[in-house]
Amino acid sequence: MEMTVSVNDNINGTLILPLVEDTEAIPEDCERGLPQSMKAQINRVLSDGDFKGKAKSTISLVGGEDGKIILAGLGKSDNVSVHDYRKAGAAVFASIKKIHGNDFTVRFSNAGVAEMAAFAEGMMLRDYSYNHYKMKDDESEDDESIKQIRLACSEKEAGELTSMVENYSGVAKGVHLSRDLGNCPPNDMYPEEFADRAYEWAKQYDNVDVTVINYEQALKHGMGGLVAVGKGSSRKPCMVIFEMNKDVKGKCPVLVGKGITFDTGGISLKPGANMDQMKYDMGGSATVFGTMEALAQTGHQGKVVGITCMAENMPAANATRPGDVIKGLSGKTIEILNTDAEGRLVLSDGLWKAGEYDPEYIIDFATLTGACVVALGHEATGLWSNNDEFRTRIHEAGNAVDELAWPMPLLPAFEKEMTDSIIADTRNLGAGRYGGANTAAAFLKQFVPNQDYDKDGEQITWAHMDIAGTYWGAKSNTMVKDGATGIHVRTIHHLITQG
Ligand code: BES
Ligand code: ZN
Ligand code: ZN
Repeated sequence: MEMTVSVNDNINGTLILPLVEDTEAIPEDCERGLPQSMKAQINRVLSDGDFKGKAKSTISLVGGEDGKIILAGLGKSDNVSVHDYRKAGAAVFASIKKIHGNDFTVRFSNAGVAEMAAFAEGMMLRDYSYNHYKMKDDESEDDESIKQIRLACSEKEAGELTSMVENYSGVAKGVHLSRDLGNCPPNDMYPEEFADRAYEWAKQYDNVDVTVINYEQALKHGMGGLVAVGKGSSRKPCMVIFEMNKDVKGKCPVLVGKGITFDTGGISLKPGANMDQMKYDMGGSATVFGTMEALAQTGHQGKVVGITCMAENMPAANATRPGDVIKGLSGKTIEILNTDAEGRLVLSDGLWKAGEYDPEYIIDFATLTGACVVALGHEATGLWSNNDEFRTRIHEAGNAVDELAWPMPLLPAFEKEMTDSIIADTRNLGAGRYGGANTAAAFLKQFVPNQDYDKDGEQITWAHMDIAGTYWGAKSNTMVKDGATGIHVRTIHHLITQG
């Protein structure tokens, strides 16, 4: 898609008109230069009540002699927000068919620059399909050719709108990269492949470095959690470290991602139903990679570090057993009671490693627990933090971009539950089946280092985001048709650049 800003009155191709609910006739500020027949056609549809302007609704008018039109609903006029504009943009994009051609002009009525840019953002985000594995021509009505979209605005608005659209376009690239990684089948997406993609990706930017800690190095460095999870697979585990603007002095955000390229459960094997979906168990690592791309595309000048913990969780003769006790990077021991609670094991090393990069804060992203999906469905990410203010900041960054992250409790009782193993310092499974998302978060907290690894010091500010329900299957997410959602690339880009 090519998105440009236009200050003339021409209508190129199909006209797109976003309208609020109960609009009775074409708004005056959209009329200029429109042929009479087109105006009449629009007015008829509006006055007959065939199009009511409901949020996310669209209607396509294609029979007219002077051109084609798509009307897009924004919802009730008294509280239309940028989120409604973004959703309307996505809904319009989803409704485009071959008959609408490749050229489009969007004309807004009574919208500010932020609203127009959000509409464009919605179109760009929805402009995604994953069809690398479809060899035969798709006969669907959907049109995947490159589209030229013009956003009509005044000369005064053009500069700001152009730069906002450019910024959103860069962020959308990050979201789409995350989605590509999450959608890739697990026979082609395994730890080393993720590392190769990261390494190749970094070559296009002077300010990004990618380092890979391979299996042998992980063993040598004592990354016992990563090794325990990945050793049973022929695709060996690794840790991939992204460093952006690494010469910038001072503390920086460090993002850590769970990257299980396939989660069978290991020896604690999962049931067969829907096991195919466990390819998206690397969604946390995809969030980190996608956020790095969004930051690089938008020219972020600050230092940011990403750490992704990549492994495939397989049952095998040499796989980790329930009952095994391991020691990870932190030096703490972990009693493994269930090999399907593997995300927390790889993250225990990733979080400890994060302490080496002088973090201002650490955020981890993980498709960590089914319990989080039970609690919040597909509508919100679970959000835990050892710092209430920081948790609020992330919650607000999510709200600002319409990606909900809901506060969850980090309670001493849960920490106690995860640290009362009779044989080791910690256990990877709670005592009962309740509160599983909270016990997982409480486990992770044991591996967040103190400032400078000082044993009496203060723990580094940290947040945990459980995206098990939001990285996949979020049917109410208008930005996504199906598959991986790429959630939280936009939240974290917003947090780092504007939060
Ligand atoms: N990858 C799963 C969590 C998951 C479940 C992600 C559903 C997406 C959708 C994770 O590794 C897991 O299996 N967790 C177990 C933990 C349990 C054994 C304590 C779970 O949630 O059942
Ligand atoms: Zn698991
Ligand atoms: Zn998992």
